[in-house]
Amino acid sequence: MSSSRLPGFYNLPLDERLKRLAEASGVSLGDLTARLEPGQADHMIENAVGTYALPLGIGLNFVVNGREVLVPMVIEEPSVVAGASFMAKLARAGGGFRATCTPPEMIGQMQLLDVPDLEAAAHRIEAARDGLLAEADAIDPVLKKVGGGARGLEVRRIQDSPIGPFLVVHLIYDVRDAMGANAVNTACERLAPRLEAITGGRVHLKILSNLADRRLARVEATIPLKELAFTGADGRAFSGEQVRDGIVEAWAFAAADPYRAATHNKGIMNGIDAVVIATGNDWRAIEAGAHAYAARGGRYTSLSTWGRDAGGNLAGTLEMPMAVGIVGGATKVHPGAKAALKLMGVQTASELAGIIVAVGLAQNLAAMRALATEGIQRGHMSLHARQVAIAAGASGELIEKVAAQMVAEKTVRIDRAEEILRALR
Ligand code: MEV
Repeated sequence: MSSSRLPGFYNLPLDERLKRLAEASGVSLGDLTARLEPGQADHMIENAVGTYALPLGIGLNFVVNGREVLVPMVIEEPSVVAGASFMAKLARAGGGFRATCTPPEMIGQMQLLDVPDLEAAAHRIEAARDGLLAEADAIDPVLKKVGGGARGLEVRRIQDSPIGPFLVVHLIYDVRDAMGANAVNTACERLAPRLEAITGGRVHLKILSNLADRRLARVEATIPLKELAFTGADGRAFSGEQVRDGIVEAWAFAAADPYRAATHNKGIMNGIDAVVIATGNDWRAIEAGAHAYAARGGRYTSLSTWGRDAGGNLAGTLEMPMAVGIVGGATKVHPGAKAALKLMGVQTASELAGIIVAVGLAQNLAAMRALATEGIQRGHMSLHARQVAIAAGASGELIEKVAAQMVAEKTVRIDRAEEILRALR
């Protein structure tokens, strides 16, 4: 794919957009339009009665680690795809997004109860570490063959719990390109009897932790000052300095206040989840990891940071756990997820993780830029108005007409949409 810039894409009719996307990406129309069939859904969950569709949009303008990427985003909320694409355009003027990942190491937890002597048990586990690791390492030969496997064992003492002190053993497992839940859970279940024999205790829970803080994705971007200046819809001009400083002030609010941080991080997750869902990954796992990571210091805070660099440009970073896979699970079963991975041309789970955090940072910037300048409602207004028009019963050309009138009147309400619709009919 030569460029993720597709000028005029927004204005094309839907089927033309699909053709343009196929041309630009080299992914066939057949792949891009393939959908999950009810018969496939029946093999994925219990009591299936069908499938449930959500809008799929394409995040444009992304350059991640020097590579042009078209980003599939599944989301029901207006403004998210446009916001990410616009901010990716500003970021590409500063060289695009630079992403890095730690090794794809997941943590499996084993809760060790009824241990007669916690300290003695902890020491015995430490002494048996090599044997335990070798056993865990041999559990998944497929993972082993591609360079994954057991990496470490940690014994933690939980002192303050409603049932008194107990031990927790963490198994660190490199899961390569898998999300890793299956591999890690299997390894923990297999290791449990050996732990019980070593300690004389009882292994109760054996399950992976979604606080995947050893599997982090980090991204940074620089937005040149001149890219930040703009004139709002009402003719109000904002200088680059004003926008930059307004964004830093907005970030400081999230950094200091959990009430604001929750909303700020929700904006980040608008972008993150959209790509995670498009690729068939487990977005609840990503959400859980994100918010737990945001509270790791004892107080819930912003997942991103924003400031100015030496040249006075706006510089942002985002770091968070990113347990996504490109093999196994829905990523390999869901035709839409397969097409999404093809579209991005990712070869490894880490590469996918880097793109996802880039979208999260872009999304965060879009929200803060709007909030720090014109406010969020103006951007939201026109797409929201279309949804309200549809809800009021408009179809075809009437959708745009009803929406445009409501936006012009600054009254986007279902009762007004119904009135306009009646008048137009
Ligand atoms: C809305 O879905 C997301 C925002 O609230 C994020 C934010 O406030 O930063 C706009």
